[in-house]
Amino acid sequence: MGRLQKILIPFLGLVLAFWFYSARENFKPEMLKGKRVIVTGASTGIGEQMAYHLARMGSHILITARTEAKLQKVVERCLELGAASARYVSGTMEDMAFAEHVVKEAETSLGGLDMLILNHVGTSYFGYFNGDVGHVRKLLEINFLSYVAMTTSALPMLKASEGSIVVVSSMAGKVGFPFTVPYSATKFALDGFFSSLRQEFSIQSVNVSITLCILGFIDTEMLRGKRVIVTGASSGIGEQMAYHLARMEAHLLLTARTEAKLQKVAKRCLELGAASARYVSGSMEDTAFPEVVVKEAENTWGGLDVLILNHIGYTYFNYFNGDVEHIRKLLEINFLSYVAMTVSALPMLKESEGSIVVVSSVAGKTAAPFSAPYSATKFALDGFFSSLRHEFIIDKVNVSITLCILGYINTENAVRAVSHAIQDTPAPKEECALEIIKSGVLRRRELHYPSRAVGSLLLLRDIAPDFLDSLIRSSYKVENIRRT
Ligand SMILES: NC(=O)c1ccc[n+]([C@@H]2O[C@H](COP(=O)([O-])OP(=O)(O)OC[C@H]3O[C@@H](n4cnc5c(N)ncnc54)[C@H](OP(=O)(O)O)[C@@H]3O)[C@@H](O)[C@H]2O)c1
Repeated sequence: MGRLQKILIPFLGLVLAFWFYSARENFKPEMLKGKRVIVTGASTGIGEQMAYHLARMGSHILITARTEAKLQKVVERCLELGAASARYVSGTMEDMAFAEHVVKEAETSLGGLDMLILNHVGTSYFGYFNGDVGHVRKLLEINFLSYVAMTTSALPMLKASEGSIVVVSSMAGKVGFPFTVPYSATKFALDGFFSSLRQEFSIQSVNVSITLCILGFIDTEMLRGKRVIVTGASSGIGEQMAYHLARMEAHLLLTARTEAKLQKVAKRCLELGAASARYVSGSMEDTAFPEVVVKEAENTWGGLDVLILNHIGYTYFNYFNGDVEHIRKLLEINFLSYVAMTVSALPMLKESEGSIVVVSSVAGKTAAPFSAPYSATKFALDGFFSSLRHEFIIDKVNVSITLCILGYINTENAVRAVSHAIQDTPAPKEECALEIIKSGVLRRRELHYPSRAVGSLLLLRDIAPDFLDSLIRSSYKVENIRRT
């Protein structure tokens, strides 16, 4: 009975706590209709997207950031989306007077304030701490002290409306990760300040809520201004990676065979905020082409930070047909061109202490039927890049290698090729693309996406390989595979 009580009571407590908190989750978009909201850092990224959501919900929006031209466009879009009103003030949060001026503007033009969303961040570097105290001071001014100044100025209005303060922070403000020392300090400071202030509000019965948002550890500025090559960028996951990187304001060099598609993707990337976007079209079957792409990066940027190898050549999804020439061609596209690009790009990547991201598949870790040529090329990638990673560590080469092990993803080509034989629901390509970028930036050894499905597959491969093989076979609609 004692033991039962020890387990049962905490368990019941957890269930009740979960029920209590989930019962409070009754958000309705109408709640924000007509509300007066300030969003800082709203010219791009998450801030821009928040402005659009608020606009759809019919709020009065006041946005701010440095770049007037971008703010103008966001305001226009907010009005199109149905904002009750939308206006902007441009200026830098390095200037405390400006932080207060934004709040004054809300008072004058909106006559009060219901929600203050603090979201802006200054530019920092992603690398070893360089000892520059001046930079830490400046970043504190932008990322932390301006949040305090705006809160102080806005508090009388927020008390009157019983409003909310939303502070956008990061995992880097909860846990110490490498390469983000100044940024991390500012985000920890936000946690300390606003969590303590929340307690004081509670003691003083001030009915203003404070929400601290801990976002996953991919902060858009980690890729701002970085020079990135994405191969296979004309469609599927590669195209989606290009769009994510564009939103993060990276410089992009895209490649694939179809020029018309690349042109469209590059144009969209520029609209989404890429620092620059260009393309080179050609086939990776051509042994000279990988070097051409890398040379293009060298000539335009004089360096490279991230090399994302993602393209694949066409193959059949069927019983192995004995065609050795096809395997030779597929090895050239899916494997040897990856090696060739790595070799050409390595001097630049060493210089920038950059990253190589290799997009592979579960078919490169555990074999399934009907994909012998494809599977061979993906296993080859694992062998080559996992061995190279060892050598980099031995040689103290500070270039990371991330191998991405993907399950079934809903790209047009993949769905067209296998949906008649595979029963699983494919995972979304947009999320997959973002996970690949995150793993690369965080210099992870491997990404398993979707994590649960791929993780359990790999676990089974190690502990019960025969069982896994029979499971894979039984999951295929073999009757739908017609021998060619
Ligand atoms: N989707 C999935 O279910 C899935 C699952 C596991 C792993 N993956 C991996 O994820 C990556 C992307 O897959 P995806 O589904 O996004 O593929 P996708 O939509 O078919 O895209 C393939 C890309 O490669 C380019 N390409 C094809 N042949 C080429 C060649 N000879 N030379 C240069 N580029 C060429 C294509 O553009 P052009 O035709 O214009 O050249 C396209 O941009 C691949 O490495 C794949 O193995 C995907």
